[in-house]
Amino acid sequence: MKDTIAKIKALKNSKNALILAHNYQAVEIQELADFRGDSLQLAMLSARLDNPIIVFCGVRFMAETAAILNPASKVLLPVKDAGCPMADMITGAQLREFKQAYPGSAVVCYVNSTVEVKAESDICCTSSNAVKIIKSLPIDQTVLFVPDRNLGSWAGRQSGRKVITWDGYCPTHQWGFTPKDVVNMRNEYPDYTLLAHPECDRTIVDKADEVMSTGGMMKYVENHDKVIIATETGLTEYLQHLYPEKSIVSLSPKAVCPNMKKTHLEDVLAALQHEQHHIQVPEDIAIKAKVSIDRMLELS
Ligand code: 13P
Ligand code: SF4
Repeated sequence: MKDTIAKIKALKNSKNALILAHNYQAVEIQELADFRGDSLQLAMLSARLDNPIIVFCGVRFMAETAAILNPASKVLLPVKDAGCPMADMITGAQLREFKQAYPGSAVVCYVNSTVEVKAESDICCTSSNAVKIIKSLPIDQTVLFVPDRNLGSWAGRQSGRKVITWDGYCPTHQWGFTPKDVVNMRNEYPDYTLLAHPECDRTIVDKADEVMSTGGMMKYVENHDKVIIATETGLTEYLQHLYPEKSIVSLSPKAVCPNMKKTHLEDVLAALQHEQHHIQVPEDIAIKAKVSIDRMLELS
């Protein structure tokens, strides 16, 4: 492992590359990365970078967003098939039909979506700004929210706006936790605070003390102790690594995102050696998708 890390660092320096990692990545990948963050933090950062190569340790939609925001850099996704099943739960054609069924509505798309879907949307959002983005729209306009039914309905309740959601979801957050997990963990850790990601089912979110993005959770734990985390287990593992003196537990060990777990140190090394896998978004789609991403960034 040490040898691989040394090779990655040498290659990274010689190519003036930068490594970004999402908060769900394995501890050794996050340790190695130059920057870590949630989807919004990494998107905002990628737009500002002037490195010729950005190695994005995460899933495809994140690397695509970085490539759209920073066409001058070569964005590499170390594992070609590291995708997000929720992003694939709606196609551009399905979104066009959805819009036709609700004329006059505004389309808010979660950044966990394909570029075609972003190109068909009015504005993007992430889990950290969904409520703010919905509230920025005219008060009487119906919102179509794609693809995540859980984030969309939670943000609709928080904003008090009429939100119609597409029936997509994240399998990790949808099936990784049960109300019984909440009962068991509350019994075991009665004085802990339960933080839930808004991708969780309402039966979990309604029982949480706080609902926030992965970046919000990282920040929360900086200043607090005794937390139960309801999101992908990689975040809990990294927090436990950062704060060994604190009491941080996962609501359930079942909440694993297989795609986030695909990236290993060897993949990062191969990405730098062979400059693979270069994420390229066709220009016509990238231009349209960038409009909805830029609108989000202006409000963030
Ligand atoms: P965050 O934007 O909160 O990091 O969430 C990304 C994600 O994929 C959650 O499953
Ligand atoms: Fe997609 Fe869920 Fe994995 Fe996040 S945790 S990348 S939403 S499958």
